[in-house]
This record gives sequence, structure tokens and C-alpha cells, in this order.
Amino acid sequence: MFELVRVMSQQGLVRVELAQWRGRLVVVKRLLGFSPEATRRLEREAEVVSKLHHENVVPLLATIDGALVYAYVPGVNLAEVLAEGPLPVTRALKVVRDLLRALEHAHASGVIHCDVKPSNVLIRGERALLTDFGFAKDVALTAITGDQQLLGTPNYMAPEQFQGVRTDHRSDLYGVGALLYHAITGEPPYGSQVLRFLTGDERVVLAPLPSEASWLQPFLDRALTRDPERRFAHATEMLHTLLAVPASA
Ligand SMILES: Nc1ncnc2c1ncn2[C@@H]1O[C@H](COP(=O)(O)OP(=O)(O)OP(=O)(O)O)[C@@H](O)[C@H]1O
Ligand SMILES: [Mg+2]
Repeated sequence: MFELVRVMSQQGLVRVELAQWRGRLVVVKRLLGFSPEATRRLEREAEVVSKLHHENVVPLLATIDGALVYAYVPGVNLAEVLAEGPLPVTRALKVVRDLLRALEHAHASGVIHCDVKPSNVLIRGERALLTDFGFAKDVALTAITGDQQLLGTPNYMAPEQFQGVRTDHRSDLYGVGALLYHAITGEPPYGSQVLRFLTGDERVVLAPLPSEASWLQPFLDRALTRDPERRFAHATEMLHTLLAVPASA
């Protein structure tokens, strides 16, 4: 049914493949072995993503025998881009605006992504698309508990999510802030000190932004604040704040 072109990634038993299907290139995310946990996760991902229809969210085309079939987004992921170094500020802000539009839609649909990070953002020309809702939380369903421990890097993870308490849509907004910080400075927030920050060490502080981006400091301080109550209230507020800053237009 699928003609494998190449394997794009494999994490545990979940493989992401580029394949030909019905005369087009698609991305197939499938389970290679037996794992009730991973099966449940893929089912959850399919259920969640099929609710989302937005130009900044990678569309799910079908689910076939448990495999998720996504539209192929030609381009690179943001982690690959950032491995080459930081982005010009205007470019970074364009990515973040796209991401906030995707999250605005997801959150309004009752979906919290829970794993906002550069490798889950695909760059196609000028447009950024959010993907990988494998850890997403559907607020209408019972939360999957204990999942956070399985996440890879904690570099973009909000402190409350790391500590396993009251994760909500504002944890995604922290992730956007962390991603923007990385895009501008070339490093994720707190670098090697991130675990100390996440476990509550108040002495760990953010390295300042480069001078050409210093006007974004108040915006990032608010996005990355420890207390979710003091962050932007929702993606729309964060987006509008960004759009209101003249230099980000
Ligand atoms: N629709 C797509 N079009 C193009 N590339 C994609 C697509 N979906 C995924 N990829 C590529 O495959 C990688 C892994 O996909 P995804 O994040 O969905 O899987 P994952 O199992 O969570 O892997 P990881 O832990 O590496 O993020 C992405 O970082 C991206 O480079
Ligand atoms: Mg991923």
C-alpha cells in the first residue's frame, strides 16, 4: 500500500517514513512492534489531529491499519535550521507568529500540544507548520498521566509541566517562548542549567538577548516566566502583543 522512500526518524517503536501513496508523497507514522502504550499514543495523536484544520498545522490525511498518514511538507524542521545557527529576528518572529496561529486554533479546539519544540515545527518556504501531537492533551478527555517523563529534551518544557502539575494551554506558550529564545540566541533557555531552573532554583537566570533583539526582552520574560498566571493568558494575546511591536511587522 505504501512504497517506502526513506525513513525520516525513529524514536523507540515509532517510525516516521517518507512514502509514496496513491501517487503522492506522504509521511507515514507507524508502530514497528507491539506496545499497548505506543498504540494508545498513536491513536490519541490521530484522534486529536483529525480535529484540527489550519494552514499552520500539518494535516492528517488518513489512518490506515493504525498508521497515521500525513501530508508531506517539503522542507526542513526548525531544529535542523537552528543547528546551523540563530535566525535573523524578523525570520524568527515570522515562525513564532505561524506557531501561535496554529496553537490558537488547537487551544480553541480543546487541544494542548504539550511538546512544542523546534523538531516539531516544519519549515516550508515562508511558512511554519506545527506537527507531532503525540503527547497532546485533549481537554475534553481524561489526561494521559505520567507522559511527561517520556518526553525527550526538557529544554522547551514549562516548569509546571516538568513537575507534573496543572499543565494547561499556557505550558505551550512557554514552549513558544523557549523556541523563540533559541531561534534568536542560538541556544535554548538556561543551556546546561535547565534542570536546575526546572526544579526551582531561583538563582538560575536567563542569559540576556543579543543587542539587536533586546527590545524583545519584556516579551520573552513574560512568555518564559515560571508562574503560568503571569504569562500571556492565551495564544491570541501573545500573538497580538507581538503584532503590536512595530519592529516585528
Ligand atoms: N509531514 C511531514 N513532512 C515532512 N517531514 C516530516 C513530517 N512529519 C514529520 N517529519 C519529519 O520527521 C521528524 C519526526 O516526526 P515526528 O516529530 O512526528 O515524530 P516523533 O516520533 O515524535 O519523532 P521525534 O521524537 O524525532 O520528534 C520531524 O522532526 C520532521 O523532521
Ligand atoms: Mg517530534
